[in-house]
Amino acid sequence: MLVLGIETSCDETAAAVLEDGTSLRSNVIASQDEIHSQFGGIVPELAGRSHVERIHLIIQRALRDAGVQLNDIDLIAATEGPGLVVSLLVGLNTAKALAYSLKIPVIGINHLEGHVLAIFLQQKVEFPFLALIVSGGHTDLCRVNGFGQYRILGRTRDDAAGESFDKVAKMLGLGYPGGPIIEKKARQGNTETYDFPRAWLEKDSLDFSFSGLKTSVRNTLSKHQNGSSLAEEDIAAGFQKAVVDVLVRKTLSACRQESLKRIVVTGGVAANGYLRDRMTDAARQEGIEVFVPKPVLCTDNAAMIACAGYYRSQHCPDSESDPFSLDAHPNLPF
Ligand code: KG4
Ligand code: ZN
Repeated sequence: MLVLGIETSCDETAAAVLEDGTSLRSNVIASQDEIHSQFGGIVPELAGRSHVERIHLIIQRALRDAGVQLNDIDLIAATEGPGLVVSLLVGLNTAKALAYSLKIPVIGINHLEGHVLAIFLQQKVEFPFLALIVSGGHTDLCRVNGFGQYRILGRTRDDAAGESFDKVAKMLGLGYPGGPIIEKKARQGNTETYDFPRAWLEKDSLDFSFSGLKTSVRNTLSKHQNGSSLAEEDIAAGFQKAVVDVLVRKTLSACRQESLKRIVVTGGVAANGYLRDRMTDAARQEGIEVFVPKPVLCTDNAAMIACAGYYRSQHCPDSESDPFSLDAHPNLPF
């Protein structure tokens, strides 16, 4: 079974071809970082326009890399939300038009389900497990009991983890996206120079809050504007450690509360090597296994959407949509 996945929820135009749920035949991702970096964040109108310009080329390239033609495709899976409406509409409408003309089914996929299932492109993980979804828009702890069986245990009350990386990078004038830039700077920095706050919230709470941390970084920066020296590397290292301390401790706390022995860390921030190492080390001490997709499958991609589409078609065959009824949902709940 060949699934064409299409992902345009934010600022990556992506298409992928997946065979039988496991064999990734192609995975094409066109980043818009160059367009948005000058603004220090995503400009939705520019993102939508760029998707329109590139989507057909990206799909053609995905088919060519996979060595297949449109007529060979059995199912199309496209992100229906959450995300920027101007971005979602481009991928979804392209998927609907293709499915209609090819007379094949199309499935709308929740972007977060895509992130959770990305690990299955690499290896099978036994259910149940805990998923930590850390991206530019989300920081969620989710109990996964099976395909399509998800229960949110905690989420951020303000900024997402990736968003805080992006905002701190912007404050330091380092560009967009902030995550990889901060990670690189932090490697040369001292984690102990600045003691940034960690928001633990109420006892046993599995929610997150990163806005206080961001404000603390801003205050530290403004204190140094009067000439005293400041090492960007130390700010980056102290900030990254504060985020990761909270992510690791709350994820392990969720495992204990839910008696789970497996963790999947996913979403753009899961590409962060410091987070991957810290989570793996801390979990090992409690006999918990950690699974993380390789970095290209952590950040936005269409392979994870094709993967979610494949499992949906296998486990909920009735969910295949009518191309005309499928619509974009910017705030689609998970
Ligand atoms: O999952 P994703 O590609 O898009 C969303 O669904 O939001 O995540 C993008 C986010 C951005 O905030 C970016 O700064 C962050 O993931 N990110 C990272 C790293 N690579 C990407 N954060 C920390 N360290 C990284 N290496
Ligand atoms: Zn994402």
